[in-house]
Amino acid sequence: ASTEKTVDERLLNICELLEEHLDYYNWVGFYFRNGNKEELLLGPYVGAPTDHTVIPFGKGICGQVAVSNQNFVVPDVAAQDNYIACSITVKAEIVVPVFVNGENIGQIDIDSNTPDPFTEADERFLEFVCSQVASML
Ligand code: SME
Repeated sequence: ASTEKTVDERLLNICELLEEHLDYYNWVGFYFRNGNKEELLLGPYVGAPTDHTVIPFGKGICGQVAVSNQNFVVPDVAAQDNYIACSITVKAEIVVPVFVNGENIGQIDIDSNTPDPFTEADERFLEFVCSQVASML
């Protein structure tokens, strides 16, 4: 049997590392576009289980990033109208797209139980993580 890790195992390892080493990263997961459909499917993640395993484009923070192709930093989720709540403990969220050949094919999504924790350093770091993810897909 091959000892090579699958892509999903590698993605889960990334989630585990981020959640473990950054105290304000409390839920870390990936969503990916479902083929040519305008919806995201939940991929590997760590943190509380979520009911939101399918997210239509445009809906919630994740669905908006699927359309905008831009990072979305939310300092206070309570101030967002178009937001999908997964857990009442969540105070803030950051979503950064994954581009393969310039195409937005998915995203990393991080929820924080700390209010307004995300800085431009998180954006630059997560852009790097997403570029590494893109190169292993
Ligand atoms: N809050 C997200 C939904 C996914 S959960 O955070 C895991 C959103 O508004 O799109």
